[in-house]
Amino acid sequence: MKIAIINGPNLNLLGNRQPEIYGGKSFEDFLKELKSQYPNVEFDYAQSNVEGELVNFIQEMGQTHNGIILNAAAYTHTSIAIGDAVAAIDIPVVEVHISNIHARETFRHHSYVSKYAAGVIVGFGMKGYKLAVESLLG
Ligand code: DQA
Repeated sequence: MKIAIINGPNLNLLGNRQPEIYGGKSFEDFLKELKSQYPNVEFDYAQSNVEGELVNFIQEMGQTHNGIILNAAAYTHTSIAIGDAVAAIDIPVVEVHISNIHARETFRHHSYVSKYAAGVIVGFGMKGYKLAVESLLG
């Protein structure tokens, strides 16, 4: 089982960025834990602050992996291109948001990804990525 985790803009700052919203752990530390919890899963991790790079990751990893966990961060709410990339691939994509986007500003309530996602997990902190792994494992 090969799972790709793709994170969008500013998620490279997890651990330091608004810890009251996103928690105090870096994604690298969280990923180490996740890998040790699922030794039989092969994880690949990609992060970019650039919209087109995220589209490239989705297209490429959509051919090489069994599932994608995608937190497109702010591009979730703006990017038709990322939504189109998710629609274009044949593997399940689980959309994750660390915070509860529906309890925040109205511009965060709409997602261009959700329509094409296998499912959406919001508001459970970093644990959402683990729930997404569980959902992909079936
Ligand atoms: C986020 C929510 C987005 O609205 C925000 O722009 C992010 C992170 C989340 O994980 O809660 O950068 O996707």
